[in-house]
Amino acid sequence: MSGIPANRDSFGSRFGVIAATAGSAIGLGNIWRFPYVAGENGGGAFLIIYLGFILLIGIPVMLSEFTIGRSAQRNVFGSFRKLAPGKPWYLIGLMGVGAAFMILAFYTAVAGWTLEYIFQSVINGFEGLSSNQLNDMFYSFIGTPWRPLLWFFVFMALTGAIIMSGVQKGIEKYTKILMPMLLVLLFILVVRSVTLPGAASGISFLFKPDFSKITPTTILEALGQAFFSLSIGMGTLITYGSYIQKNDNLGNTAVSVAFADTFIAILAGLAIFPAVFAFGIEPGSGEGLVYITLPNIFLQMPGGYIFSLMFFILLGVAALTSTISVLEVIVAFFSEELGLKRKAATWLATSSVSILGVMCVLSSSTMADVKIFGFTVFNLMNFTSANILLPLGGFFIVIFVAWFLGRDGAKEELSNQGKLKVRYIPFYMFVIKFLAPLAIAFIFLQGVGLINFS
Ligand code: PFF
Repeated sequence: MSGIPANRDSFGSRFGVIAATAGSAIGLGNIWRFPYVAGENGGGAFLIIYLGFILLIGIPVMLSEFTIGRSAQRNVFGSFRKLAPGKPWYLIGLMGVGAAFMILAFYTAVAGWTLEYIFQSVINGFEGLSSNQLNDMFYSFIGTPWRPLLWFFVFMALTGAIIMSGVQKGIEKYTKILMPMLLVLLFILVVRSVTLPGAASGISFLFKPDFSKITPTTILEALGQAFFSLSIGMGTLITYGSYIQKNDNLGNTAVSVAFADTFIAILAGLAIFPAVFAFGIEPGSGEGLVYITLPNIFLQMPGGYIFSLMFFILLGVAALTSTISVLEVIVAFFSEELGLKRKAATWLATSSVSILGVMCVLSSSTMADVKIFGFTVFNLMNFTSANILLPLGGFFIVIFVAWFLGRDGAKEELSNQGKLKVRYIPFYMFVIKFLAPLAIAFIFLQGVGLINFS
């Protein structure tokens, strides 16, 4: 095939694999999306269901993606075509590329807001503002077209530039330094947040389950959030898996990445909810939650100026290591399947995603009244990618490994051709054959209202 170089790139080290994969998983999904989705869906009860999904569905799907990618050594579409020649499984790959378009479009819009907040931190723009004024500041910023558009393009260009100049070195290098820094800063913010007067109600909101808040839609949201946060269901980890070396332990990698991702989401919840309650903000106040709450905390902190700056820089970086991974799905597809050079593939990918991205950016201003199925373009991309496309992709991915590659195929790859002990195989096979697909199908059909068992 013309587009596949004889010497395909791969990650350099085991730590590099973890950093890159955790870099993809840890992002706006943990720090921006998780707190507001949990806030809108009952807090503690949502968290418990979410954790259950990470363990029982998330890790097995992640492992399945690694298995597919590393055994095929191709982009998401090419992987299915190589492993199942002449069969229609490649359609899952195409759906993954479609999901990548949708996610990259709205995700880059939100990542762009981070740049505005870096800028505001630099010019001390939050100084002296009340909670209400910080709220107004956020909505007037996203309610006008030009600035969010500018930041969107800056972020897209950054993502494109890194992808163009070779992903592995960029991703490996930056994530190894920046991910630990993010952790330290989040830690400091958590301490500040939980020691604010009135913080206790925020902590109990996050950890005390109130199951009366749970509906089929809540459960679907928890599943969607688990998929989104782990970067699974659309082939990002098939693509990254194809760069993992043959002697790495895929099982360990999947568990470490899922653990790190969940830990960061909980830390983000602990940084946000106590402050939300302490400042009387609505926990379900949607996509502005983090951008309104955090400046509130920073204003209360000694050294808030510098922390605010560092936090938004790190949030931007966390977002960047995720946008890179999504763009890589599309670029690997274009370059290997269309035979394009990496540079041309990146231009094609970023410019075509930008068309959809501009519509996402304008969804809170000039296109606010354009509704599709009752959603703005932004919300349609956000909701459908996480809650529909990713679970659907995950469903077919586990079915593919369970029923097409089968136990022997999976074991061969997961045990590194028999070199590793993989005692979890019987349990893993049971989960991907029955439990995960049935659970995903049930939650999905119930959540979108196609069946009703409640
Ligand atoms: N996992 C990323 C986050 O939590 O921010 C978002 C994401 C990246 C979703 C890559 C999907 C994906 F394929």
